[in-house]
Amino acid sequence: MGEGGSQIDSVMQETRLFPPPGEFSKHAKIKNLAEYQELWERARRNPAEFWADIARSELHWFEPFTTALVWREPNAEWFVGGKTNASYNCLDAHLLQGRGDRTAIIWEGEPGDEVRWTYRQLHEQVCKFANVLTSLGIECGDVVSIYMPLVPELVVAMLACARIGAVHSVIFAGFSAEAVAERNRDADAKLQITADGGWRRGKVLPLKGTVDEALDKSPCVQKCVVLKRTNNPVSMRAGRDYWWHELMEDASHDCPALPVDSENTLFILYTSGSTGKPKGIRHTTAGYNIYVKKTFEWVFDHREEDIYWCTADCGWITGHSYVVYGPLSAGAQILLYEGAPNHPAEDRFWALIEKYRVNILYTAPTAIRAFIKWGDEHVEKHDLSSLRLLGTVGEGINPEAWMWYHEKIGGGRCPIVDTWWQTETGGIMMSPLPGAIATKPGSCTLPLPGIVPAIVDEQGSPVPENHGGWLVMTHPWPGMLRGIWGDDARYREQYWSKVPHCYLAGDNARRDPDGYYWIMGRIDDVLNVSGHRLSTIEIESALVSHPAVAEAAAVGRPDELKGEAVAVFVVLRSGEPTESLKSELRQHVRKEIGALAQPDDIRFTNSLPKTRSGKIMRRLLRDIAAGRATVGDTSTLEDYTILAQIRGDQE
Ligand code: WT7
Repeated sequence: MGEGGSQIDSVMQETRLFPPPGEFSKHAKIKNLAEYQELWERARRNPAEFWADIARSELHWFEPFTTALVWREPNAEWFVGGKTNASYNCLDAHLLQGRGDRTAIIWEGEPGDEVRWTYRQLHEQVCKFANVLTSLGIECGDVVSIYMPLVPELVVAMLACARIGAVHSVIFAGFSAEAVAERNRDADAKLQITADGGWRRGKVLPLKGTVDEALDKSPCVQKCVVLKRTNNPVSMRAGRDYWWHELMEDASHDCPALPVDSENTLFILYTSGSTGKPKGIRHTTAGYNIYVKKTFEWVFDHREEDIYWCTADCGWITGHSYVVYGPLSAGAQILLYEGAPNHPAEDRFWALIEKYRVNILYTAPTAIRAFIKWGDEHVEKHDLSSLRLLGTVGEGINPEAWMWYHEKIGGGRCPIVDTWWQTETGGIMMSPLPGAIATKPGSCTLPLPGIVPAIVDEQGSPVPENHGGWLVMTHPWPGMLRGIWGDDARYREQYWSKVPHCYLAGDNARRDPDGYYWIMGRIDDVLNVSGHRLSTIEIESALVSHPAVAEAAAVGRPDELKGEAVAVFVVLRSGEPTESLKSELRQHVRKEIGALAQPDDIRFTNSLPKTRSGKIMRRLLRDIAAGRATVGDTSTLEDYTILAQIRGDQE
């Protein structure tokens, strides 16, 4: 074990088990483990037929497909020969079933303004804006860049692109002008959609100013549509910039959805590699659409009456798949919130849940750790009894944060779905089905039907139970990426070259004796201490289980004796950063997971460097721990000042 190979030593002990509550299972679509296993086995025997049956009955087909899957590794084509349209499946399909008056979107802006749209109203907005796009010269296959706050019009812009077969590239509104320009150039975007601003923590984000700078550096973009959101002054360039509301005034609301090929590109979404330029992950229409619809229904056990809130921004894959395409295809009633979770106070999320009687909440571990740090009093002020299901995504959730989420937010009665997936996978790959699968804090449990993972070593051989190794997928699935925009070689190299005939996810994982999967962190983040490979999440979870610790990041630093020493960065929940607390934390890790993982360096800091989507950037911390200057791409870093602050703490 360990010694230089790709296996990872697991030191984590987590034995708590939470069976699905009886009441929950009784009403669930998949009610017990046997039903799940039956479905999973059926899918495994013939994945292409399994998905074809679902796609045939649950998507609208202008023309039926003839072949379920054409697989020429590493290129997949699903539902070949068929024609459909994702905007049609999200909107028209419901109108035709007499469900036009059903609520589609409930939106609250940060200042407290509110919008409610039925499916009919959303359909009308989308049709009009699709006509606007066409009038600006956008055609099937053109790339439209979207840089907007989280407002209902962002959803309209996405669905309007889909309606006419244009490709959207949504860029999260926290990115810089340089990042927008780089993505626009890489995608060869023709049109920019933005707003005069968006609200964040009581201030206006000057999005149009950023776009003006970005468009100077991405001349492929010829036109720009600007939504009036905040009324702050912006400069409009004649012949290039148009107001959204002016264009919409004259637009017809008649716009039939264009039948597009199953494999027509629906969107590209840029995700950062740890080095090199961002990758435009390409997703196509039919396979993606059915995958996010079905996984939404399975994982969230969606019911007609639910109010569903996924707190992700549409700038991330979570927003694409589980704010827009999955829920709207399923006819769900979704809540959107524009602003920060701590504005005007730290109880904003709980106030929203109480006000709108939210039933399903889907959020990220980084947010949960912030809520814990802010204190329980903010939660206790509110009635959260409407909640029946909780979800997490984005990182592993530390077991203690899981327990807090379960008890404080879920009142001990709501199952938690810890969903593992990636921008590349399009939709959720592993997750509990809440009525069927017992949960364990920190585990994403079992693969969804149609998904066949494996854990292997560097030679591609399966590793034994409870040993960490590389997580791979052994079979194509409909939601998988179809490539990296404009870079086939990188696609092949990154995902399909290391383990023969398998998709390499880039994460380490182990499987326990119940067959449950535990994600151990990114392959690049592994620590190697005296020939033992340790996972970041296990050390971090041990630290977070100490009452004084809110958040922690573990990295390796070069050490002559041990190869690597364990360096940890700790954010305190309370208390003083003293020497005695340091030795207490060392002892705590030793007791929880053993002497091997005991931190050699402990540094206290007020916050950790994170990507704009909230992931800890361990790569930067490795540089700091080793006393090196930071190398590589830092364009996705959320807050530069944090780096200086952590470095300063060293002195
Ligand atoms: C990476 C993908 C999936 C949408 C948002 C992030 C990590 C994600 C989990 C989880 C442990 C997780 C993995 C993965 N990750 N979910 N439930 N447990 N790790 O998408 O930015 O493409 O990141 O996030 O490391 O590879 P992304």
